[in-house]
Amino acid sequence: MFEKILLGYDGSSYSKKALDYALDLAKKYISSLTIACAIHVPNFSDSRDEINGALEDAQVYTEDILEKAKDCAAEAGIKVDTRITPGHPAEILTHLAEEGKYNLLIVADKGLSGVKRFLLGSVSEAVVRYAKCPVLIVKNKNV
Ligand SMILES: Nc1ncnc2c1ncn2[C@@H]1O[C@H](COP(=O)(O)OP(=O)(O)OP(=O)(O)O)[C@@H](O)[C@H]1O
Ligand SMILES: [Mg+2]
Repeated sequence: MFEKILLGYDGSSYSKKALDYALDLAKKYISSLTIACAIHVPNFSDSRDEINGALEDAQVYTEDILEKAKDCAAEAGIKVDTRITPGHPAEILTHLAEEGKYNLLIVADKGLSGVKRFLLGSVSEAVVRYAKCPVLIVKNKNV
């Protein structure tokens, strides 16, 4: 049922818990697992140099967190693919899920902002609203 799983990952402690669930499911269902991170740099009034600098920083951060996620997966005996895609995270995740015919999209309830008073972060909320495939939101009550 879950031959292809897509995990939205931002390196937050919340998304690390979602990674644990993704690895467990991938093992049980013998699924292929893709870990995707969208690089989104709001550009408002910044200069081109500032935007390019922010993009480079985001690229370095993203490569680093995906490398660590890959190590985690390898420890669990699971080979994963990783994707770094520029754009708004919720749009990227729903688009990748549809285009790649994924059977399950996993995200955590919160991410790097982790604002406690909101039930869901904006990415998880948009994903659950717009994705066409089943979505698993991994809740992090105690983090
Ligand atoms: N850039 C991203 N690329 C891939 N997945 C992401 C990205 N950002 C968030 N996610 C996924 O969505 C989950 C929830 O993050 P979200 O961004 O919705 O919450 P937040 O950072 O607490 O709040 P907000 O970003 O709305 O201020 C993350 O744990 C992760 O699974
Ligand atoms: Mg966020």
